Amino acid sequence: MFKFNFSSENQDETDTIPDDLKSSGKTSIQETDGQEIEISNDHFQNMKQYRDSGSSTSLVRDFHLVDLKRVEELIASQKSGECESLKTAIQMNSDVISGVYEGGLKIWECTLDLLDYLNKESVQFDGLDVLDLGCGAGLLGMHALRKGAQSVHFQDYNAEVLSLCTIPNVILNNNPDVKSKTKFFAGDWDSLHHKLKNYDIILTSETIYNPENYGKLITIFEEMVKENGVIYVAAKHFYFGVGGNVYEFEKLLRQNERWNTSICFCSTEGVKREILKIVQSADQNH
Ligand SMILES: C[S@@+](CC[C@H](N)C(=O)[O-])C[C@H]1O[C@@H](n2cnc3c(N)ncnc32)[C@H](O)[C@@H]1O
Repeated sequence: MFKFNFSSENQDETDTIPDDLKSSGKTSIQETDGQEIEISNDHFQNMKQYRDSGSSTSLVRDFHLVDLKRVEELIASQKSGECESLKTAIQMNSDVISGVYEGGLKIWECTLDLLDYLNKESVQFDGLDVLDLGCGAGLLGMHALRKGAQSVHFQDYNAEVLSLCTIPNVILNNNPDVKSKTKFFAGDWDSLHHKLKNYDIILTSETIYNPENYGKLITIFEEMVKENGVIYVAAKHFYFGVGGNVYEFEKLLRQNERWNTSICFCSTEGVKREILKIVQSADQNH
């Protein structure tokens, strides 16, 4: 049977728990903040099996993605104690459960806005270091890889999203040397500083819905963007029910003279959506 396992089928169950978790006494990958999820040989084998079995993929723009229904079935079939956050989200049919599951399984529409924008403006990635912050399915990072980025780091709150969705998608769309170019990090934004490096481009979509996280996001920007780096934030103008909005986020950023912000895209139909482009002021670059 096809599986997107975290580890080999014949391993002892305790071996599916990473070493740092075993020593901390934690029992769930979900509880580890700032953890790197590595692409394993199992991931490659599983995706080969996925392709060979003729399993369907969905096509979003021109990326092949693992079938979300299959991923959900797989999550539901995990033994008790594993993937509990995602099981809860699926059972509750929730897009986001704050602090538990932050929406990484679904593809949110602003990702498509940003993909289209990057294509339309021919934004260059060749030889650059890129972060897909709050990556979910990983479309933005995959775009950067396809366009020749030197390295792409993917980050999601939920480790299981990375292992069951993002990594399989990256493997489906890129050649095997992808292992040397990518890294995957799970955890809350305020736990990632020791893991992330400095990036030429930070891409982030639908990550400003919760104003409580603005400080964490801005700290990542401050610490992780290179001197001449660029940050693109794709978001709905206003998130009803949670209160996040582009205007407040931009206002907070502008309190620091370091940042220059501009709206480089605004949707003309449907829910109002925008892309905020953030660069550093010229006098910060000396
Ligand atoms: C709504 S999803 C958007 C996913 C994807 N970027 C898209 O547009 O389809 C929000 C993303 O931000 C991440 N995220 C949200 N809050 C977070 C937090 N406090 N710490 C770390 N990641 C967080 C989620 O894990 C998820 O990847």
